[in-house]
Amino acid sequence: MNAIATNEASEASALLETARLAASAAGELVREKWSGPRTLRKKGYRDWVTDADFAAQALIASLIRERHPTHGFLAEEESPDLPSSGDVLWIIDPIDGTTNYSKRQPNFCISIAAVSGARVRAGVILDPLRNELFSAANGLPAQLNRRQIQVSNASNLVETVIAFDWTHVPALRQSTLDSLGKLSPEVHSLRCIGSAALALAWVAAGRLDAYWNWHLNAWDTAAGALIVEQAGGRCATIDGNDLPVTTGGGSCLISNGILHESLRNLVAAPGHPYNDFENR
Ligand code: IPD
Ligand code: CA
Ligand code: CA
Repeated sequence: MNAIATNEASEASALLETARLAASAAGELVREKWSGPRTLRKKGYRDWVTDADFAAQALIASLIRERHPTHGFLAEEESPDLPSSGDVLWIIDPIDGTTNYSKRQPNFCISIAAVSGARVRAGVILDPLRNELFSAANGLPAQLNRRQIQVSNASNLVETVIAFDWTHVPALRQSTLDSLGKLSPEVHSLRCIGSAALALAWVAAGRLDAYWNWHLNAWDTAAGALIVEQAGGRCATIDGNDLPVTTGGGSCLISNGILHESLRNLVAAPGHPYNDFENR
């Protein structure tokens, strides 16, 4: 490793430590609130937020600010006091899978990524109920609780378990149905676990072979995409472009890499008017 690479790796591992610390504090908070009463508010089409989302985001941001006062934030929940730019941009989804959380279904997670120079430097996804921390940083392998993980080596569609999810864009729900119609005869099975970030972590760990969604935001994918890539997988939009890092609102197809193109041909439903959704 040359001096620049060594420097980058040590900066990335410092960011990773901050992300781990913030995720674990927020994990404790959302675990404590898990069985208590909660306030639920609708914020958009099929889109909910709870008091726990706001509390977890505030805790994560304050812990990061204590360590890195010059950094900025792109966080899912409204928070006008947070600076929106800085030397490093922290992309935070305080609870990914709020619908599950609010109904006390256990698939949800906390997702935190640190971005600089348009690259994700470090990312963590914490599943607080199972105590599973997925992580990666530039120059370091993807890990689950500090043990290295890898994407699956499935090479036949018929062996695959593919996950997907419903979007908050009404028209794109039909695209999801179209993709399901094309995939279902070809694959072993399909899952909707209700948390995009957790699904990405499971692709990285080889528990799922791929995941697609017709519309996600940066906070859903930033940490997970780095973890999948460092675990040997591939992340792109459904039409095959690079996944945007700080701007969301696009599709994603995340896979073990081996089956990426075969899956893309099925998910993309050629000729479907929503294929070019990102460009409209
Ligand atoms: C949602 C979840 C869900 C996905 C939605 C996301 P949220 O995030 O990741 O699985 O289908 O598009 O918005 O609202 O629970 O943070
Ligand atoms: Ca989310
Ligand atoms: Ca969320």
